[in-house]
Amino acid sequence: MDSFSPEETKKGIEYLYKLREKYKGIGQDFFDYLEGLVQSKGVAYWEYIHLNSLLGLQVPQTDYKDEIIFITYHQITELYFKLIKQEIDQLTDLNEEEYTDPEMWVMRLNRCNAYMKNICDSMGVMRSGMKKEDFFKFRMALLPASGFQSVQFRHLEIMSTNLNSLLNYKARGEAMKDEPLEKLYEEIYWKSGSIDARTGEKTLTLREFEAYYDKHLMQYIKRYKYRNLHYLYFKLPKEVKENEELKAALKEYDTYFNAYWRLSHLSSSSRHLPKAKGGTGGTNWRKYLPPKEQRILFFEPLWTEEEVEHWGEEYIKEKFRAMIEKKWMKVPKK
Ligand code: HEM
Repeated sequence: MDSFSPEETKKGIEYLYKLREKYKGIGQDFFDYLEGLVQSKGVAYWEYIHLNSLLGLQVPQTDYKDEIIFITYHQITELYFKLIKQEIDQLTDLNEEEYTDPEMWVMRLNRCNAYMKNICDSMGVMRSGMKKEDFFKFRMALLPASGFQSVQFRHLEIMSTNLNSLLNYKARGEAMKDEPLEKLYEEIYWKSGSIDARTGEKTLTLREFEAYYDKHLMQYIKRYKYRNLHYLYFKLPKEVKENEELKAALKEYDTYFNAYWRLSHLSSSSRHLPKAKGGTGGTNWRKYLPPKEQRILFFEPLWTEEEVEHWGEEYIKEKFRAMIEKKWMKVPKK
């Protein structure tokens, strides 16, 4: 066995002291843990990321091959939501010094925006990556489940803005501000989605979501009332609030979440859901999903009145322009 150099001996002893302190602190036998270290095999990649469990989580309900795309893409989106939540949580937990440092905000918001960009850019998988004829058939076998029931999507909304900004457009404003949270919650915009287009009644999708999550979401709202991004940002000292990079990052997040994502998602719904039937299970989605209808914005005071009035339209124009340009590029030059 090679002997230790004097430097290695010094370093080794320092570590031994640290380890002895650590295990003493938690009332554990230090030598047992050293023995454990000698026996440990280390961890392999497939164990570390739980590959087998991960790949076993996509369980289709029908024999249509494209259903696996539908499940997997929803799962991927939920994982991105989880990453965005973790960035926002760290932002809302900053200590006083970090809280007033615009760089901290910009760094975390840029991460959220990178994640949102990924899900917006890849939404085409939902639009044209599945066979239209098959989609409707396997989708009906999944009722009453709907992405509408994504609680993480609601978490993100609650963490990002105040309750007033999430109310039905007409219910927002000063008069409602003093109402108890429970009353405001009844006016939250998503309670007017997933409504039966023929009867105007709540669908089973919405009723089941409410029964399962209403209490939890009320608690979430209370927890983030004075911790959401909107509240924290507008409470910042003026000179920090005016930081251009910070304002741009917040507006980008608003745009990704409340315009790009909602519109890419709407475009998938429009492609796959037949006009006659109304929607997944016959809901009011055509009236509910367009961003212009709900006008949900996390940081409304950062936008002009005109931008709010025409929320989402700029993106549609941009897409349309890109489509036309692409078509023109194909025309051979004379
Ligand atoms: C072809 C694919 C998709 C179709 C046809 C579709 C369809 C719909 C419809 C019709 C609604 C309105 C609620 C209802 O009528 O039940 C809805 C809501 C929703 N879906 Fe999807 N969806 C698709 C993909 C996704 C994906 C991949 C996600 C990711 C998690 C998702 C998340 C949501 C969310 C969060 C809502 C609620 C939006 C809001 O309240 O503004 N959907 N979807």
